[in-house]
Amino acid sequence: MTRTVYYTATTLDGFIATPEHSLDWLLTRDIDNTGPMNYDEFIAKVGAIAMGASTYAWILEHAPGGWEYAMPAWVFTHREFPPPADGADVRFTTDDIESVHAAMVAAAAGKDVWIVGGGDLAGQFADHGLLEEMIVSYAPVTIGAGAPLLPRHVEFRLEELAQNREFACARYVVVRDGE
Ligand SMILES: NC(=O)c1ccc[n+]([C@@H]2O[C@H](COP(=O)([O-])OP(=O)(O)OC[C@H]3O[C@@H](n4cnc5c(N)ncnc54)[C@H](OP(=O)(O)O)[C@@H]3O)[C@@H](O)[C@H]2O)c1
Repeated sequence: MTRTVYYTATTLDGFIATPEHSLDWLLTRDIDNTGPMNYDEFIAKVGAIAMGASTYAWILEHAPGGWEYAMPAWVFTHREFPPPADGADVRFTTDDIESVHAAMVAAAAGKDVWIVGGGDLAGQFADHGLLEEMIVSYAPVTIGAGAPLLPRHVEFRLEELAQNREFACARYVVVRDGE
């Protein structure tokens, strides 16, 4: 059964990047890649991904391994971007969230859908009742300002909590009205 999940790392004060889109506060930290809520286990269950323009731009400019997503990707943007690599399945879109989500679920074929970020895009999925889970790794740092984790009022239920070296990792399920 497909789940739509926002999986990300954040600062303690709720930012996923600095105002200049730096992730330096994150990338130097100690994490066990086989430990609780690790990325490799998560991505193995993902069949489609979505991200906003800033996140895509960051990956193009900075990602150490370049574009490393084998599954179809939707990039929400009004800008013109180059494709990430030959043969990569990337669809630039300004379509509405619901129709993109339906296409993602179909493409995922039973696997999960990953909202990579940013926070407002995850919020747009939540606005439509389409966000089901959030998995957050909290780095032990505050940065005072930046790109927000999830600039909305969304109610969650904590389902899982663990330490992975420097990170506090938590898995939350979105609580819908009446639950
Ligand atoms: N800590 C982590 O693990 C983590 C994870 C993911 C991302 N990040 C970082 O966090 C930052 C997020 O940046 P951000 O907050 O600016 O969010 P973003 O979602 O990456 O980019 C926002 C932009 O996406 C476009 N967009 C969003 N919704 C759209 C829609 N419905 N239709 C069409 N276009 C839409 C708009 O750009 P245009 O209209 O100009 O195209 C918008 O300004 C980035 O630096 C990223 O690298 C960190």
